[in-house]
Amino acid sequence: MHPAAWAYYSAGAGDEVTLRRERDAFEKLLLVPRVLRGVDHADTSASVLGAPIRAPIMVAPTGVQGLAHPEGECATARGAGEAGTLMAVSTVSSRRLEDVAAAATGPLWFQLYVYEGARPFAETLVRRAERAGYGAIVLTVDAPRWGRKERFLRVEDELPPGASAVSIEEELGEEAREPAALTPEDVAWLRSSTGLPIVLKGILHPEDAALAVEHGVEGVVVSTHGGRQLDGVPASVEALPAVVEAVAGRAEVYMDGGIRRGTDVLKALALGARAVFVGRPVLWGLAADGAAGVGRVLEMLREELELAMILAGLPDLESVGPDLARKG
Ligand code: FNR
Repeated sequence: MHPAAWAYYSAGAGDEVTLRRERDAFEKLLLVPRVLRGVDHADTSASVLGAPIRAPIMVAPTGVQGLAHPEGECATARGAGEAGTLMAVSTVSSRRLEDVAAAATGPLWFQLYVYEGARPFAETLVRRAERAGYGAIVLTVDAPRWGRKERFLRVEDELPPGASAVSIEEELGEEAREPAALTPEDVAWLRSSTGLPIVLKGILHPEDAALAVEHGVEGVVVSTHGGRQLDGVPASVEALPAVVEAVAGRAEVYMDGGIRRGTDVLKALALGARAVFVGRPVLWGLAADGAAGVGRVLEMLREELELAMILAGLPDLESVGPDLARKG
């Protein structure tokens, strides 16, 4: 991978305190298995907003995947489909959202950034996503400005070709754009503008989760944006239990950040997540071997989850409960 692309993908914001914490928090959580249950196989199948998936492990929206592979998001969509799971496609994609949909063999959600002064453009994207068959809109709410990714800023090289975000540039021109500072009215606008389910991504505070539910969203993603926005926030998995409590079953709760093993997935489920998203590992798989690399990364995580479930005495996801995980 080009050094500038690597820096862009791997970076967190500021001193990367949160980025490190995303891993530390998982390592500090411990699993408490049950034995004598006769569990010799486990069923990892799950569903999210009614879409069946082979395991509760989905592809997080990450921008400009043309930096990892010439086929970009089209290859990722095929890899996710081969692994029997769902991909969230970023607004900042290197391939047109219609082209990703045409390449996809599994369900897709569309991740929406609303840009400053460009609500009509957001509306256009939502219409295009609806027409192309996307199953939900994931509104990212943790980016009123882009976080400062200093590891990337220190690299003096320009990003290589492939860095274009085709949908934005076609409609808004090539100059760098800042996202908009959203309010509850924006969520209400989106709610009234589409019949698709809405998922808010980037929630850490339980009161924001409650607010989201009061605005009629179907899901929330507990996320620190992979440690790329406000540095110094707790890891997503630390913020998860309070959000699950606040949502109280009124919407689906997902999380992302730091998932690198099947045991991490199991810990997140034990703390109440319905499913998780994976960001960077998918990009590494994409860079290594295109669609096959993405499929392999997702299948490795699924196999690890399956083994962890068997070793913990859990035949299916319904048997995962809060007594499975405890703080170390
Ligand atoms: C992201 N993320 C992100 N989120 C989003 O809503 N829209 C986007 O366009 C992007 N772009 C993006 C690019 C890159 C290179 C990274 C690493 C991340 C955040 C992403 O969806 C997710 O929250 C994190 O990546 C999860 O953390 P892990 O799995 O990378 O540790």
